[in-house]
Amino acid sequence: MSNQKPPIILGIEGTAHTAGIAVIQGKNILLNKAITYTPSQGGIHPREASEFLGKTFPELLKEVKSELSLNFSMLDAIAFSRGPGLGPCLRTTATVARSLALLLNIPLIGVNHCIAHVELGKSLLQTCDPLVLYVSGGNTQLITYLNEKYRVLGETLDIAIGNALDSLGRELGLPHPGGPQIEQIALKGEKLLNLPYVIKGMSFSFSGVVTAAKRFIKSHSITDICYSFQEFTFSALAEATERAIACTKKSSLLLTGGVAANQRLQDMIKEVALEQEVECFVVPKNLSGDNGAMIALAGLNMFQVKDFITVDQSRVKPRWRTDQVDVSWIHS
Ligand code: ATP
Ligand code: FE2
Repeated sequence: MSNQKPPIILGIEGTAHTAGIAVIQGKNILLNKAITYTPSQGGIHPREASEFLGKTFPELLKEVKSELSLNFSMLDAIAFSRGPGLGPCLRTTATVARSLALLLNIPLIGVNHCIAHVELGKSLLQTCDPLVLYVSGGNTQLITYLNEKYRVLGETLDIAIGNALDSLGRELGLPHPGGPQIEQIALKGEKLLNLPYVIKGMSFSFSGVVTAAKRFIKSHSITDICYSFQEFTFSALAEATERAIACTKKSSLLLTGGVAANQRLQDMIKEVALEQEVECFVVPKNLSGDNGAMIALAGLNMFQVKDFITVDQSRVKPRWRTDQVDVSWIHS
């Protein structure tokens, strides 16, 4: 039996709005700290967000060091979000990760952010081969693992569901991000307005639904708009998920990403799971949005198969797709 100590990994998340740093020992999350940048108006500005990350990472690192009484020389590897995301943010994050790895002379691990949302859910909820519905501000994908890759069975053909909620939120005069506010307002909605219901196989499209919902602003209540928007878009997600379960015959379903925090979406997805007789796992609210722990946990899998990169190879990948990653740590 191996008596090796579980590796201690520092995970750094910084693809867009959130500066996240976590330390794990094996699968145990020792500390997970995140601070999110909120734009004063409009959506996220890439340069402002990257400046925010540049200011926040040193503060977070100091806090992590003192709260854990951590000697950085105890770390076994640095994992960082290498993509996809906003170029300026990714470059700032990579600079922090490279500096630490060089200074401490330990391996550098470049993690795909989307796959980190999936790996966190799998590791936390102990499900090994689920069908995944990944819903966030930048992505909306139905994912399954097959032959060394995560395959995308269906995805948004334009904007992601979180982005759609946030841009409707802006039109309604709500502060960023709109998703959580729309969830609360929708609870009081009563009348289902007639919005487009868009589903193409197992893929979705949300920009037309946002445009149609905006047209109702002058004539209908904000509560009915929010309620109807959620009902139409989440139903499309649920229908595609049902289809994907029928196709893949998976026995478990994982809901992950920032929008997974939405109770109405969770209820719809759980209903599909119940009807299809599959187990449903939902990433808890405190970990469904961007955070350093997901990067560290995905990094742990990569650490175990020595999937490291040198600083020279560590160029960031703003458009790195889920299905482009060689998943060397899963053995089917
Ligand atoms: P990714 O790169 O994975 O797309 P991201 O930048 O979108 O990451 P996440 O933290 O994964 O970041 O997701 C943020 C999104 O989640 C935002 O669009 C936000 O509105 C949405 N969101 C958060 N909570 C809720 C909620 N309760 N209901 C609906 N949407 C929510
Ligand atoms: Fe995310």
